[in-house]
Amino acid sequence: MASQAPVLILLGPPGAGKGTQARMLEEAFGLVQLSTGDLLRAAVAAGTEAGRAARAVMEAGQLVSDEIVLAILKDRMVQPDVARGVILDGFPRTDGQAAALDALLASAGQRITAAVSLEVDDEAMVGRVSGRYSCGTCGEGYHDQFKQPAQAGTCDKCGGTAMKRRADDTAETVRERLKAYHAQTAPLIAYYDGKGVLTRIDAMGPIAEVQDALAGIVGRVAA
Ligand code: AP5
Repeated sequence: MASQAPVLILLGPPGAGKGTQARMLEEAFGLVQLSTGDLLRAAVAAGTEAGRAARAVMEAGQLVSDEIVLAILKDRMVQPDVARGVILDGFPRTDGQAAALDALLASAGQRITAAVSLEVDDEAMVGRVSGRYSCGTCGEGYHDQFKQPAQAGTCDKCGGTAMKRRADDTAETVRERLKAYHAQTAPLIAYYDGKGVLTRIDAMGPIAEVQDALAGIVGRVAA
């Protein structure tokens, strides 16, 4: 079991910094970020059957059905790059998804390496999410206040100039997403604590501080 590739879970409400931190960990440790939100948005953009079913649910700030999410995740988990180790960003989000992940890993002789809960204040998350935008070319994330590109309107990473905002990033929808998080996802913190794999991180500080705390945890398990 010691030789298995790391399987890391990032838990936290909308705006906690899961995507921001997962991308940094991907670069620093050579792991693969698996974001079910990104996979679902790609399905919506491609107009697949799953994407058509998910679109209105996502725009309302509710959770997409386990059936759709698990089908999309399993398709992604069989890609060869996943063998390097994964950071699960936004998955699992329900008891059913957590049980399905356990079964999927067990069938491959694997287990969860670490789960990290990014702990934040709800009200601050409304501002974080509604100020967010990203590069339409490479996906690098920015924020009106907290993380601006060096040159306004130009991506630091790829030089792209087409910035975009998500349809579900209105203050009203963020509040619905926070409700869904507390009702259906927050109970998973106790679930992973019970398994002995959970670490809690204060994610209200600057991005770099949260990154240092996470890198310490991942460095220990991904070494
Ligand atoms: P998803 O895409 O997963 O969105 P989310 O969980 O709501 O999380 P966000 O992407 O909004 O926030 P984040 O924690 O990644 O924060 P970020 O790093 O961007 O899901 C969207 C929808 O898809 C769901 O509502 C649901 O409908 C569906 N879905 C997805 N997965 C599902 C699943 N498993 N089951 C069912 N449905 C599912 O940071 C936010 C902003 O803050 C950025 O601008 C960033 O620069 C800034 N920031 C980050 N950290 C800091 C910091 N420390 N200080 C200041 N600013 C910061």
